[in-house]
Parts: sequence; C-alpha cells; structure tokens
Amino acid sequence: MNSNIAIVCSGGDASGMNPALKRFVEYSYAKGLNPYFVRNGYEGLIDNLITPATYQDVSGIITRGGTKIGSARSLRFKEASYRTIAADNLRSHGIDKLIVLGGDGSFRGMERFYHETGIAFCGIPSTIDNDINGTDYCLGVDTALGVIRNAIDQIRDTASSFRRAFVIETMGRNCGYLALISAITSGAEMCLIPELPIDIHEFSGCYRSQIQKGRDYFIAIVSEALNSREVSEWFENELGFESRVSVLGHIQRGGSPSVYDRLMAYKFVTYAIDALLEGNSHSVICYNKSHFNFKTIDEVALHPHQLDPELLTLAREQFLPSHCQM
Ligand code: F6P
Repeated sequence: MNSNIAIVCSGGDASGMNPALKRFVEYSYAKGLNPYFVRNGYEGLIDNLITPATYQDVSGIITRGGTKIGSARSLRFKEASYRTIAADNLRSHGIDKLIVLGGDGSFRGMERFYHETGIAFCGIPSTIDNDINGTDYCLGVDTALGVIRNAIDQIRDTASSFRRAFVIETMGRNCGYLALISAITSGAEMCLIPELPIDIHEFSGCYRSQIQKGRDYFIAIVSEALNSREVSEWFENELGFESRVSVLGHIQRGGSPSVYDRLMAYKFVTYAIDALLEGNSHSVICYNKSHFNFKTIDEVALHPHQLDPELLTLAREQFLPSHCQM
C-alpha cells in the first residue's frame, strides 16, 4: 500500500511556497506516495484541515506568491494537548511523513512533535528574512530581494528629481540580510543594520562636503530592527536636507516567485522527500556553498543566525562612515 505524506507551511509566508507545493504533489505521485495538504499551518493540523492533494490543486500556481494552502503562527501547537490532537488527526489520514516549509521556530515545534509521536518530518527553510542558522539560503529571499530592488529603483527616480534623502525601511526582523544585500545592489549611500553598529553623526562632515560638491539626493537603507524615522530626522535636522521615510512593508512578502526561488523550491522538495523515504526522520535540508545537506534541529535552531562574515567585511568597507568618500 502507498504511504501518505503531507506538506504544511508555517510562519510568515514566502514566495516559492507555491512552486514547492506543486513539486510536492508531482514528486509524491512519482514516488508512489499519496500527497496531502495541511491548510493554515499547524493550526490546520489541530483543526484537521488535512485533505488529499491533486494535480488540479497545483495547476497554475507556480507563478503565484504566497501559499495556496495558507500559513499561520500557531500558539496552540506549543501545548502538548493540542499536539496530541494534531497527531491523532494525521494518523486518522494514515500520514506518517511531513514536509514543513517554515522557519527555525516551526522546526523546533516539529522536532518536539516527532519525539512525542514518531511522525517523521523534513524542514525546508522558508523565510524572506534569510535568517536561519545553518543554511546560506532560505526559500523566498530571492523574490523578496527583487521586490525591494524594484521599489528602491523607483524611489530613486523621485529622490533624484526632488532633492530628498529617502530612508527606506526593509523587513528582516532582527537580521540585516535584506537591507545589506539591497543596499549593495542598489548603490545606496547608507546602510544601517543591527549587525554593523554605526553612529550616523559621523557621516555629517562627509555628507556636507558631498552636498557642497553637488550631491542632490541620498538613498539610505535601514533594517526594520532599527529606527528609520530617527535617521530621516537626522537628515533634516543635521544636514538641512529634506527627507522622507518609505517603509516597504508587506509588499516584500509577495510577488511572483523568481526563477531562482522556483528552482530551489523544486530541489528542496525533491531532496526532502528522498530523505524521508530513505529513513531520515527529523532533519532540516540546508544549502551551503552550492550543496544541499541535512542538519539536525539543534544545528539550525540552537544558535542565533549570524550574517556571513565575508558579507560583513564588504559591508564595513562600503558603509562605515570612515570609508565615506568626500
Ligand atoms: O519573518 C518574515 C517577516 O516578514 C519579517 O520580516 C517581519 O518582521 C515579520 O515577518 C512580519 O510579521 P507579520 O506578517 O506578522 O506582521
């Protein structure tokens, strides 16, 4: 008899989840598995929102951001009594394997669930923040970076026409990855991220000199963990330069998945299903230096994420006030 496998999205949605769902259904059938969807994250495990998945369900979704099956942050799943209900629901459908698209908190919860129930899982790192320890890449970050690039390029059009400093706030929770990559690739003057403490007052002399020589706009990228309004006030009060804050917000979570996110979704799901079939019962599939590998939950969730040291070195050279070009 075919065995049954389910997929669930947990936490903040990310572009690339729909391509992952499509591959999940197609590859499951190819491997003789019966695929199921769990709707609305771990909430759906508890509420038994578990249904067989068909080819029709995933037809045409590869181009769409978000996730067709919904996602959620579940507080109830943290309670053992609800996890028991979730396990009973899965067993009632004959499901003993799960693919989880989510972040380290979701994997940690699933690890506990595995030890309590024996239901195997493989986690696929999925978050635009790209802040999961142990993997260089998380599903969705490439699309988010594309959305941010487009937004900054367009803001530059108006900034350059109107002699203003634009302070553009990106998402990322406590991680500066989105802000840093965006600042480098959009040619921003300033980049403020939690990982690189900077006293902006040290820019005063350099920026004044640049203004005297003709600079007529600034682009400053600020990670959401820092205070973009204060930065904008600094431009106005310290430099007398008109300034606006633009908080990009949740547009960063949407958009048609990039080619890279689609391809990575395809590979992640393929290798995750292979691993479950080979008996790898509780791991996270990671991507490091162009190679896929499987890590334990402790390897990805025990330590906080740290920005790639090479990136940080580049960031120092580019964005520290001491490197500001007069
Ligand atoms: O983790 C993804 C993320 O978009 C973060 O960048 C952001 O801080 C957070 O989720 C926003 O959460 P919510 O959608 O609940 O407002």
